[in-house]
Amino acid sequence: MKQYNFDEIIDRKGTDCIKVDLLEERFGNAKLTPLWVADMDFRTPDFIVEAIKKRCEHEIFGYNFGSDAYFNSIIEWVNYKHYWEIKKEWLSYIPGIVKGIAFAVDCFTRPGDKVIIQPPVYHPFRLVPQMQHRQVVENPLKLVDGSYQMDFENLEAVIDKDCKLFILCSPHNPGGVVWEKETLSKLAEICTHHNILVISDEIHAEMVYPQYTHYPFPTVSEAAASCSITFMAPTKTFNMAGIVSSYAIIPDKQIRRDFFQFLHARELDEGTIFAYEATKAAYTYGAEWLQQMRMYIIDNVNYVIDYLEKEIPEIKTCKPQASFLVWLDCRKLNLSQKELVSLFQDKAGLALNDGTMFGKG
Ligand SMILES: Cc1ncc(COP(=O)(O)O)c(C=O)c1O
Repeated sequence: MKQYNFDEIIDRKGTDCIKVDLLEERFGNAKLTPLWVADMDFRTPDFIVEAIKKRCEHEIFGYNFGSDAYFNSIIEWVNYKHYWEIKKEWLSYIPGIVKGIAFAVDCFTRPGDKVIIQPPVYHPFRLVPQMQHRQVVENPLKLVDGSYQMDFENLEAVIDKDCKLFILCSPHNPGGVVWEKETLSKLAEICTHHNILVISDEIHAEMVYPQYTHYPFPTVSEAAASCSITFMAPTKTFNMAGIVSSYAIIPDKQIRRDFFQFLHARELDEGTIFAYEATKAAYTYGAEWLQQMRMYIIDNVNYVIDYLEKEIPEIKTCKPQASFLVWLDCRKLNLSQKELVSLFQDKAGLALNDGTMFGKG
């Protein structure tokens, strides 16, 4: 079995990489350790690089299409990872998950309609609807014993007839929560009852830690399958976000017809040559690499947690159940927001995401 090397340090400077090359512009200091953009510093796996190189050797980059091999690689991978049998007609390429959320907002809501999110959450969930002049309704997560829970009572209280869409982060960024089946099915029940479409962003789903199970939203109940759109991607998992390749899965016929028609009318369902090649390679050859990468990041996450427990116990972590993000609760440091940012940037030399961008909590 091939052992992949995750220790190698690769200089990303000068590659127009947001995380490194925009440090000066965003933080005013190019020397900070860049931990702010959610991509990894591991080499994109060799089997993906090889597939792209091989395609490059052909030297004609004309119009292309998503072949059966592309769709089958997704169908087989989703079955292998999540024991979910999906059909080709449920699938469409989309050019990125945040863009997918924006298309869903555009397709299923009108200006003034309400979109529900559960902060603290990945900031585009709030910004994307707001920038399209939709009202964002918040149903904040509850922090219970250091882990987040959904507040269904409050959800029922904030829903009104203008609420059209609910954007779910599963697993959850930033808390790293892998939602339980019962939680998701309760959510589906409420949303179905109020005729609210659920957009389930499952970009972190392939990096769930071994002791947890990720349930793709439509698999938890019939209600969930008939009120939702699920977005997944190999880009975050295999460190190839710049290639831009994601997909939507929609079991429900009517939702599928509306959304796929929206995409098709704008040719948003057409991927690039490299998106298709990289996805096929990731999903055909990626299982072993992913296994090793996941163990490596679990070690790193545990290192952070242990270090904080021993050295800075005032900073609490939500112990992630998936992916490579660690959410730090710094409230016990008793610093103002300005002092906290200064501590991390000026003293510790770290470029982190400022927690306030994730909203309440
Ligand atoms: C929850 C979540 N969704 C979406 C994205 C970005 O996905 P994409 O690059 O496909 O838009 C990220 C990246 O950090 C994320 O954490």
